[in-house]
Amino acid sequence: MRAPMAMTLPWGSLKHELFNRGKKEDSEEASPPPPDEEFNTLKDKFDKAGQGQVLQFYEELKPEEKGAIYKQLSPIDPEHINKLADTALHPPKAESEDQNPKLEQLPDSATTSTIDSKEDALSKWHDEGLKLISANKVGVVLMAGGQGTRLGSSAPKGCYDIGLPSNKSLFQLQAERILKLQHLASRHHNKEDVVMPWYIMTSGPTRKPTEQFFEEHSYFGLNRNDVKFFEQGTLPCIGNDGKILLESKSKVAVAPDGNGGLYPALTSSGIVADMEKRGVQHIHAYCVDNCLVRVADPTFIGFAAEKDVDIATKVVRKRDAKESVGLILQKNGKPDVVEYSEIDSATAEAKDPRDSNLLKFRAANIVNHYYSFRFLQSIPDWAHRLPHHVAKKKIPCVDQEGKQIKPEKPNGIKLEQFVFDCFPFLSMDKFACMEVKREDEFSPLKNAPGTGEDDPGTSRRDILQQGRRFLEEAGATVTSEDQKESGVEVSPLISYGGEGLHFLNGREIRAPAVIEKEE
Ligand code: UD1
Repeated sequence: MRAPMAMTLPWGSLKHELFNRGKKEDSEEASPPPPDEEFNTLKDKFDKAGQGQVLQFYEELKPEEKGAIYKQLSPIDPEHINKLADTALHPPKAESEDQNPKLEQLPDSATTSTIDSKEDALSKWHDEGLKLISANKVGVVLMAGGQGTRLGSSAPKGCYDIGLPSNKSLFQLQAERILKLQHLASRHHNKEDVVMPWYIMTSGPTRKPTEQFFEEHSYFGLNRNDVKFFEQGTLPCIGNDGKILLESKSKVAVAPDGNGGLYPALTSSGIVADMEKRGVQHIHAYCVDNCLVRVADPTFIGFAAEKDVDIATKVVRKRDAKESVGLILQKNGKPDVVEYSEIDSATAEAKDPRDSNLLKFRAANIVNHYYSFRFLQSIPDWAHRLPHHVAKKKIPCVDQEGKQIKPEKPNGIKLEQFVFDCFPFLSMDKFACMEVKREDEFSPLKNAPGTGEDDPGTSRRDILQQGRRFLEEAGATVTSEDQKESGVEVSPLISYGGEGLHFLNGREIRAPAVIEKEE
C-alpha cells in the first residue's frame, strides 16, 4: 500500500476532524445543489484557507455535480488539511529522543512463544479462550479497507479466490473459522446461541462490493445480524504544492486514511456501542489478506485475558532482513512497531548479540491484535494523538485548466494512520506479545500471481500443506503422485486448528483432496 518512504507527522488535538472525516462515500444518491448562501459559506471557508481551487470549476458543473462536490467538501476542514500538508511537506526537526530512539527487543516479561511454551499452559489458555467465547464475550474485527494495489485485483482482497480445490475466498475461510469456533465453544460448554460478532471495516472503494459479496454468499452461513460492516474515513490527497487535488472537476481526490482509521471508525460507526450492548470484553482484530489467520484464536484470547493486558499481538520470526513486515519492539521503553517502509538498513540487519545467527529485531508483525474492551472504550481520549504517515504517490487528477493528468512520477501525497501507532500509549505491563509458528498462522496475500512470494500461489500452497500436516498428526497417511500437488484442503468447518480429525486415523488420503465432511 505504501511507497517505501514515509514520515511521521505529529498533530494536535483535533478531535472534531477525527470523528468527522470525509466518509460514507458510498452514499451516492444525487444531492441537489446547495442554496447560494450555503455555497458561499463553503466557498469562503476554502478561499480563506487558500484551497479555493477545489471549487474553481463549480459554475460549469451540472446541478447534480454541484450537489455532489458540495456534499463531499462540507465535512472537510481545509485549515486542518493545511496543517497536515504543511507538516508533511516541511517536516519539523525531530526532538533528540525521536531522532535517535532507543530500540530494544521486547522484555521477556512481555513475550511468550507457542513454540516453546509448555503444553499445559497452551491448553489452559485455549480452554479459557473457548470459555470466554461460549459466554459471548469475544468479538472479531476485520480490517478490509485496503485497496490491494500490489495484488492488482480491483475487487476487495477478501473476495479473492486463491485457487483452493473448493474455490473458497479469503472471506469464506474466515467466516467458516468463526462458525467452527462458535460450534466448538457451544459444544465444550454446553451452551446454545454462542455468537461472536464480526465487525468488518471497509472503505469507500471496498464497502459496496464487500457487502454484495456477503449477500451473494448468504453470509457464508453466519447470522447476518452478527456481521456488521462499517466504513473507515478518507482524507483528501494533496499535491506537492500543498493544494488539495481534484480527481475530476466535481470530485476531490481522496484515499482511505490507513488502517489506523480503524479507531475513529469504531467509535463513530457505533461499533464500540454495539460491543458494549452485547457484553463483548475481548476483541481480536486482524488483516484480510492472511489465509492462515486463526480468527479469534482461543489460545491468544485466553493468554491476553489471563495477562489482563490492553493490547496483545502475535508475531512470527522475520524471514530475512528484507521481508516487508513491521517489527515489534520497544522504543524508548514503550511497546512500538517500526514499519518496514521506515526502517533503516542498520536496524533491519542488526544481529542478536546473544546469537549472531539471528536478527536482533525479528518479531515480525502479522497484524493479529488483541484489545481489551476497556481500551477501545478509551479511543476518544487518545485517537487524536495518532500520527499521520506520508506516502508519496502518483495521483490521477485534473490540472488548472481542468485537463485530466495521469502522472508518471509522484505528484502528491496520501496521508495514512497505522493501526499499531497506539501501542506506545501503553505501559509495558499492559502489552504482551505471542510468537507463533509461521507455517500455521501467516501467509499473506500481497503480490500479483506469479511473483513467487506472498502471492496467490504461496497462499494456496500454505493452506494445503497445513491440511496435510493436520491429517498426518491425526494418524492419516497422505500420498500423492505429483510432488507439486501433495497438499490437502481441510475445511475450517471440519477443523479449526487440526482438532477433530481422529476419524481419519489409519486412513490413506490421496492428494490433492478436500476434507469437507466427516466421512
Ligand atoms: C501490514 C502491517 C505490517 C505487517 C504486514 C504483515 C500496518 C500499518 N502494517 O503492512 O506491519 O508486517 O501488514 O502482512 O498494519 N487496510 C485498511 N485500510 C487502509 C489500509 C489498509 O483496512 O486504509 C487494511 C488492509 O485491508 C489489510 C491491512 O490493513 O487488511 C494491512 O494493509 P496492507 O496495506 O496490506 O499492509 P502492509 O503494508 O502489508
